[in-house]
Amino acid sequence: MAEKPSPSPLAGFVAELDLHVRARYPLLYLSTWEEQRLDEILARLAESHGKDLVTWSITRGLRGHAAHGGPIEGPKDPAQALTAVAALVNPSLVVFKDFHPYLGDPTVVRALRELSQQLKSGYTTLILVSPVVNIPTELEKDVVVLDVPLPSTHDLGVLLRDIVRVVREGKRATVELTSDTVEPLLKAALGLTLCEAENAFAKAIAQDQKLAPDDVSVILDEKRQVIRKSGLLEFCSGDESLATVGGLENLKTWLRRRANAFGDKARAFGLPAPKGLLLLGVQGCGKSLTAKAIAAAWQLPLLRLDMGRIFSGLVGSSEENMRRATRVAESVAPAVLWVDELEKGLAGIGGSADSDAGVSARVFGSFLTWLQEKTAPVFVVATANKIDSLPPELLRKGRFDEIFFIDLPSDSERRQIFAIQLARYKREPQRFDLATLSKLAADFSGAEIEQAIVAALFSAYADGVDLAESHLREALGETLPLAVTMKEDIDRLREWARTRTRAASGE
Ligand SMILES: Nc1ncnc2c1ncn2[C@@H]1O[C@H](COP(=O)(O)OP(=O)(O)OP(=O)(O)O)[C@@H](O)[C@H]1O
Ligand SMILES: [Mg+2]
Repeated sequence: MAEKPSPSPLAGFVAELDLHVRARYPLLYLSTWEEQRLDEILARLAESHGKDLVTWSITRGLRGHAAHGGPIEGPKDPAQALTAVAALVNPSLVVFKDFHPYLGDPTVVRALRELSQQLKSGYTTLILVSPVVNIPTELEKDVVVLDVPLPSTHDLGVLLRDIVRVVREGKRATVELTSDTVEPLLKAALGLTLCEAENAFAKAIAQDQKLAPDDVSVILDEKRQVIRKSGLLEFCSGDESLATVGGLENLKTWLRRRANAFGDKARAFGLPAPKGLLLLGVQGCGKSLTAKAIAAAWQLPLLRLDMGRIFSGLVGSSEENMRRATRVAESVAPAVLWVDELEKGLAGIGGSADSDAGVSARVFGSFLTWLQEKTAPVFVVATANKIDSLPPELLRKGRFDEIFFIDLPSDSERRQIFAIQLARYKREPQRFDLATLSKLAADFSGAEIEQAIVAALFSAYADGVDLAESHLREALGETLPLAVTMKEDIDRLREWARTRTRAASGE
């Protein structure tokens, strides 16, 4: 079961950790769900630096073993435990597990600051390990946060090899994997913690007493669960394709040109992986539709990032949420990350008295940095229909590959949209005079055309007849398009977009 050892993010993390310890950073914060995996790493690190390893948890208090001396024992109480750390004689790595609940206590925070000052002149490093990163403002300048990477395919391969060995020895199940078929299985498990991956593999075996190539679907299901539980990202699936998007020829050409840009072949050719698109435009003209169609056209999984959730405060801090979301997206890569209604996340930025402004600006800043620096092939499709809240740095080169403006559909585009939508509602477009319908729908958005068709279907159904052109004419006549009621807004949007964006529609 040999697979190529990929450059391990874990090795990078261990090196970074080592560097920080050597450089005598007093206070490190490691964010991970995988305490066990980290325990081994920290034990090795302590040994290689010749330091004592001391750990603290609320249930066990301070424990350790001094190299020249006996066992170390200290208090469970968080503030007292910190005082005990200050009194340690030997250079140590001190690991505090799940300390985040106590960071709400001013006494503890103060004790940490003082300890951090003191440790700067010594050889002891305090390491906080927790799945939640929530750092009080007072400590922000003292703490360095490091993300523990999720297992790589190599790590997962080691795990799977162990599982296969146990299964074979116990003869409780058969393993039908070759070195070729194991790779997709490991790729599917990327993004899971070791513990989650173990459960996923176990489940795949338990279902039919064998581990076979088709178990990829079981693993992917598990991963969907995990992503759903995180509450920030949503796996979307749909039957959209570029063919279900009417018009927008420039945009579609751009996309078609990049259809195969995510494979190894494209890398070998020297192409950079596409970074992402910003789709700006009038409401109901197909921004969300296009985002879904891109994933389908490129056959990549589609993850929807809910900006509202990031800031909801229901799950974790906003900053931590954003980091987690981007990490999970990277673990699923290559993938399309759809950030719908980006402006929702930007509300508050630039707002002066708003106490949330600082948080939104920071979260947004980290999102921008990620956009610019990400190396994993995650194609970001961000959509927005308000320009007022878009900060200029978003539009700077290097963030997105391109910014497209999606305007109200032109006459020929409306004809296409009628054809697409009629077919979608099980009617033959050829039976209708699309040119006339399109004229009647001047200034309509795609969404309004769809709604008119639905309204027409309802009245036909109520009349007990099939859909006729008269129903459509009537429904179109009854609609007052948004373009009329919001004319000024749309004009302003167009004017703004003229110099800053590319038109999604062809001439
Ligand atoms: N160009 C189009 N081609 C085909 N259908 C379209 C098009 N534009 C809009 N529609 C129809 O209208 C629906 C709504 O469009 P969509 O959700 O993509 O709009 P949006 O631009 O994301 O609007 P909002 O700014 O309100 O989010 C689509 O699901 C689709 O049925
Ligand atoms: Mg939308």
